[in-house]
Amino acid sequence: MRVLVTRDIPEEALKIVAENAEMELWREARPIPREVLIEQVADKVGLLCMLTDRIDDAVLEAGKHLRVVSQMAVGYDNIDVAACTKHGVPVGNTPGVLTETTADTAFALILATARRMHESEQFLRAGEWKMWDPMLLLGQDVHHATIGIVGMGRIGYEVARRAYGFQMRILYTGNRPNEEAERNFEAQRVDLPTLLRESDFVSVHTPLNAQTHHLLGAEHFAQMKRTAILINTARGAVVDQKALYTALKEGVIGGAGLDVFEREPLPMDDPLLTLSNLVLVPHIGSASIKTRTQMAVLAAKNLVAGIQGKPLLHEVPAPIQP
Ligand code: DGY
Repeated sequence: MRVLVTRDIPEEALKIVAENAEMELWREARPIPREVLIEQVADKVGLLCMLTDRIDDAVLEAGKHLRVVSQMAVGYDNIDVAACTKHGVPVGNTPGVLTETTADTAFALILATARRMHESEQFLRAGEWKMWDPMLLLGQDVHHATIGIVGMGRIGYEVARRAYGFQMRILYTGNRPNEEAERNFEAQRVDLPTLLRESDFVSVHTPLNAQTHHLLGAEHFAQMKRTAILINTARGAVVDQKALYTALKEGVIGGAGLDVFEREPLPMDDPLLTLSNLVLVPHIGSASIKTRTQMAVLAAKNLVAGIQGKPLLHEVPAPIQP
């Protein structure tokens, strides 16, 4: 049984794949080019892919023997799940194992942006620090501030746990109440305008889909406090990035901490790079050694289950047909 793994991933996971299948591995430190993916998938029964690979009808047409598409990520907006369902191919993903690490990243961005860590470090390294100064690089307090969590799923819940430790007031939006968050962290479910109006920090934790594309844009930033900080560790396109740039530049909101972007990698001529009131990191939300290993192992196990015709450990639900 031949399978394709589209990126070099932790050894532990490669071992699981190699023990159960004949593995072809794209080892280069860049995403597999689309034409190579299409060519190589032709004789494979399993595909272990990354969020940088677009898996659509063309890939599934080429991969006629595929029994499973296993993504090493929780998000799967790069995969046309309806097309996979049409081709009878289950899709696996890796929820759960990256929840806390991603929440840590969101919180790191909250702290770094609020307390101007990046600017402060640049200031020091540039040799500009001449003396202790009572007015130097003043930021905002995180403790006792109000956080608005957009999407109280697994990761949102873990962000709420961290916020509660900082004695923050926690507001959230979500399709349904999260009773655990309300009970454990005194979180309050509110509508989006209330959350935007009252929060000092707005942290985005929704998957990207047709409903959440540009969920936050110019009219939403206008409702936020002028000092508010936006944090995005979900998917870039949940936020209208051009509108965010304008809001940051014109002081409509106070700052942003971004791990994800509408276009990745962020082009070096992107106007966001000209602003100082934000912290930008390269989609490292889940990037701890332990978590990336767990994600890879789970993706490998989903792959093996799929090629053996067994239920996946985590299968993305097939879209409901209209
Ligand atoms: C995911 O799993 O969707 C993350 O974005 C990867 O860090």
